[in-house]
Amino acid sequence: MALILSAAGAAAAAPPALYTAAQSASGATVFAQNCAMCHGADLKGGAGPSLVGQSFASAANKYTIGAIFSEIAEQMPAGQPGSLTHDQYTAALAYILSKNGYPAGSTALDYNASLGSSVPLVSQVK
Ligand code: HEC
Repeated sequence: MALILSAAGAAAAAPPALYTAAQSASGATVFAQNCAMCHGADLKGGAGPSLVGQSFASAANKYTIGAIFSEIAEQMPAGQPGSLTHDQYTAALAYILSKNGYPAGSTALDYNASLGSSVPLVSQVK
């Protein structure tokens, strides 16, 4: 039983691979062109809030992928909501996840699945 519990604990602590490396690479360009002017080239904030570290997504904030992606896809870029393609929005999310310590994997982030995702979003960056 103790073994099972510690295995479950380790699984919960390791952030899941939610996007591909190709998505985060293209997301870097999307972010630089559409988001960095407000959120900072380093994601640490400016006119818009920080999108990296505990000031963004601490465990206490109880963010989910779905809640944050809905804000990105439906309200960002502020002033021009919905102006990017679905692929650009998922790439931007992949880039933000990569900067918050989430690993790339073999399954691509899907636009519709991400909107409804209840997967917790907790930055791995202190
Ligand atoms: C014109 C400035 C501006 C641009 C451009 C912009 N944002 Fe924002 N963003 C804001 C502001 C201001 C807020 C906070 C108020 C709000 O939620 O509307 C915000 C909030 C957010 C949040 C929620 C943060 C939180 O902790 O709840 C995310 C995520 C986000 N932006 C991502 C993006 C992404 C990704 C892009 C590029 C596709 C982008 N933003 C472009 C100004 C901007």
